[in-house]
Amino acid sequence: MAKKVHGEESPSIREEVLRLLKKEKGRFVSGEEISAAMDISRTAVWKHIQALREEGYDIISLPRQGHRLLAVPDRLYPREIKEGLATAVIGRHYHYYPVVDSTNTVVRKLAAEGEEEGTVVAAEEQTGGRGRLGRSWFSPPGSGLWFSLLLRPALLPREVPRLTLVAGLATAKGIAKATGLEVRLKWPNDLYLNGRKLGGILTEMEAELDRVHFVVVGIGLNVNVGEEEWPPSLRGTAISLREACGREIPRVPLLQAILRELDDCYRRFLAGEFPALLQEWRQRAYLGCPVFITLGGEKRRVEAVDVDEEGLLLIRKEDGEISRVVAGDVELIQE
Ligand code: BTN
Repeated sequence: MAKKVHGEESPSIREEVLRLLKKEKGRFVSGEEISAAMDISRTAVWKHIQALREEGYDIISLPRQGHRLLAVPDRLYPREIKEGLATAVIGRHYHYYPVVDSTNTVVRKLAAEGEEEGTVVAAEEQTGGRGRLGRSWFSPPGSGLWFSLLLRPALLPREVPRLTLVAGLATAKGIAKATGLEVRLKWPNDLYLNGRKLGGILTEMEAELDRVHFVVVGIGLNVNVGEEEWPPSLRGTAISLREACGREIPRVPLLQAILRELDDCYRRFLAGEFPALLQEWRQRAYLGCPVFITLGGEKRRVEAVDVDEEGLLLIRKEDGEISRVVAGDVELIQE
């Protein structure tokens, strides 16, 4: 039978070729078998195998034996992230970029164009990664998770900071599921490991006084950043999962685990379970300890006492007075 020519190099056939190699992982699949299964020419099979290799798939090809998939690259490709993800909202739409300025900026643009709630944008590298309070966020290629979600909750603007706590909790739970490591949370948006910063969350929104149009939750996590890679300003204060575990951490299952926890925590949040989520947040948080807090340009030593039911930080000042903090910069005191 004559082989299909039109479309035989199409991306969807490439997906099928990969699926077949994955299904048969561990054994050689002959070019003939792939050609027959996909109804494409042997030349097209070869081109797809080559293209997959260029994407980082380790495929060995031997004469008379065929092709065998040895390893899948640890890149945040849509096909890898979506495989077995099974979330209801978060990650239903997923966009991947090798390089962007900031995934938060990309999501903001998509949101303005009407993109659906739950959309995730992930990048291997950010050239203009942004942190809280106008800081920049170090986002080197391939060694972290730099991604953002689009949410469209029916909230008042003042309720939106709660989403930062929910996202922090979900990220901590995802890390625990994928690596067994228990990270700690620092109000309002930081993830800590061994007293150093492992990740952070940048929540941005587009809103009117009484209506939120959309929220962008950007999550940055240092996964495989090597000790020698840190810029001088972060040396000694930042940490990666690899540094903590002493081994490379595969990012694909880690991102999948975090997206599943985000999906679950966001569903619970929308169902009115913020108090229970906050209770889980508290169990992982730095509370009941001295911290420095910078408010209106003034830095003072206080005790981080608790987080109230709205997600605001309660601090005890040196004179014993308790006050609520809406926004501020908290610094741990390592004693
Ligand atoms: C902070 O701790 O200051 C927040 C850091 C947030 C970084 C993430 S990385 C993905 C997303 N895109 C950005 O530009 N920032 C967030």
